[in-house]
Amino acid sequence: MTTPPPVLAIRRAEKRFGAVHALKSVSLEAHRGQVLALLGDNGAGKSTLVKCISGVHALDEGEILLDGEAVAIHSPAAARRFGIETVYQDLALFDTLTPAQNFYCGREIAFPSWLPQGLRLLKGRAMDRQAAAVLDRLKVKLPRFDAPVALMSGGQRQAIAVARATVFARKVVILDEPTAALGVRESRKVLDLVAQLRAEGNAVILITHNMEHVIELADRAVVLRQGRKVGELKPTRANQQELVSMIVGAEA
Ligand SMILES: Nc1ncnc2c1ncn2[C@@H]1O[C@H](COP(=O)(O)OP(=O)(O)OP(=O)(O)O)[C@@H](O)[C@H]1O
Ligand SMILES: [Mg+2]
Repeated sequence: MTTPPPVLAIRRAEKRFGAVHALKSVSLEAHRGQVLALLGDNGAGKSTLVKCISGVHALDEGEILLDGEAVAIHSPAAARRFGIETVYQDLALFDTLTPAQNFYCGREIAFPSWLPQGLRLLKGRAMDRQAAAVLDRLKVKLPRFDAPVALMSGGQRQAIAVARATVFARKVVILDEPTAALGVRESRKVLDLVAQLRAEGNAVILITHNMEHVIELADRAVVLRQGRKVGELKPTRANQQELVSMIVGAEA
């Protein structure tokens, strides 16, 4: 039996921002039903790599393969069409929109302008109901559902962003520090969602600085340092120290 190609492969990715060489010949593979932790110190290039995969930035060199085929991902909308859902570290949600509007932003349920106002309102309620049902199923509690997300806490916003990704995920889900702003209980919820995404057959790429979370959830870990991949291993308690040394660049 031949093994299927990885759902996502990055080959020799290069990215520069002026004088900053953010990605230096980075290659990695993500597989269905696995969590890949992407690790590295601040400024290592993790978010840059994520943004190149999700169509925010273009690679200067190198290629991205989905199911073994080289693809060009020109925009975040294109990435979504390819089945790549991303929860960004910095631009997770639109502040002025409600949770439901954030859920469906840029999706098919958007109102056509020819629809009479009354019907648009009905569709809006349907979206509210659907988004509320999803958040409820995921046990995410919000004080108000019809308020702009700007008025919600960091943890609530993060939960909405991750919940949205779980709804639309089809192939690859990238979570850039999804628990960074969260308390213990909220983090637990997000980690459960990550496990659920994996169980549903997605390839999950998880960026986090929390080693406990990495050891609990990640099937493999790739470590970046100053834009370069410096290691790849299966994270366990036994090699946690080795992993930390790779991240900070100290001798093991
Ligand atoms: N849009 C940009 N323009 C210029 N430089 C950038 C840009 N985005 C990132 N960089 C630089 O690229 C390098 C990698 O940044 P990146 O955000 O990918 O790091 P990171 O690994 O995600 O770090 P952190 O853990 O702090 O989130 C940094 O030196 C950063 O300053
Ligand atoms: Mg980052």
